[in-house]
Amino acid sequence: MNILIIGATSGIGNSLWRHYTSEGHNVAVFGRRKKLLQEMEANCPELTHTECCDISGASQLESAIASAHRRLRNIDIAIICAGTGELNPLLDIATEQDTIATNVTGWTIAVDMLYLIFERQGYGHLVTVTSVGGLQPTPVAPSYSASKAYQINYTKSLRRKARGTGITVTEIRPGLVDTRMAKGDGLFWVMPLPKVTAQIAKAIRRKSKCRVVTNRWRILNFILRHFS
Ligand SMILES: NC(=O)c1ccc[n+]([C@@H]2O[C@H](COP(=O)([O-])OP(=O)(O)OC[C@H]3O[C@@H](n4cnc5c(N)ncnc54)[C@H](OP(=O)(O)O)[C@@H]3O)[C@@H](O)[C@H]2O)c1
Repeated sequence: MNILIIGATSGIGNSLWRHYTSEGHNVAVFGRRKKLLQEMEANCPELTHTECCDISGASQLESAIASAHRRLRNIDIAIICAGTGELNPLLDIATEQDTIATNVTGWTIAVDMLYLIFERQGYGHLVTVTSVGGLQPTPVAPSYSASKAYQINYTKSLRRKARGTGITVTEIRPGLVDTRMAKGDGLFWVMPLPKVTAQIAKAIRRKSKCRVVTNRWRILNFILRHFS
């Protein structure tokens, strides 16, 4: 298969890149950190195509997606994993703008461009990585939780739009995962990355509509959906 992962230089996206290349799939990976991308390509040159790109820059993102599309020719699965999330209790405006530029504006351009590629192909599997945090407003990271709520609703809209087409839309909704993204004091239920990766890969294989990872976080997801 040909797989595109936006946000693969670290954390969940990087672990998915390892998973899919170990299975022999071609994987195009996006991120801003050029050195890490070069290391990934050197590590697995026959299966890895890299695009250095900041998704908050529309023209950069558009040309990177077009370039990856040309190299892969067809895309079977596109996983939009890129995201930023800073604690910002003092409401620093630049931090809020950065979060919106990546998690809302750049993210929307990425999912829409890939959805339109899938429409032209007549098939494709779009996977978004949202967050259980999108169900829970938080005073310490308001733009992060709001941006994840946006992604959750946007993904649902695309899933409805895809009905009756050859396009599948899966939302992966993680709880806390042991990556650089998990910040703050007193974090609980921080899940190991290998376990999270295995559950995400399984959900993608099964073409699940929405998968909260891990199982433990499904309990909190249920409480937040019904009682908050
Ligand atoms: N870890 C958690 O507890 C947790 C919980 C719920 C949801 N999530 C979600 O899971 C996704 C992956 O996060 P992670 O935990 O794996 O954290 P991570 O290790 O920080 O990974 C984030 C990835 O996104 C990329 N990225 C960030 N901003 C970007 C930009 N403007 N343009 C291009 N790429 C960008 C980063 O690459 P570069 O820095 O190289 O650009 C990196 O590859 C995020 O959407 C996050 O919101 C994480």
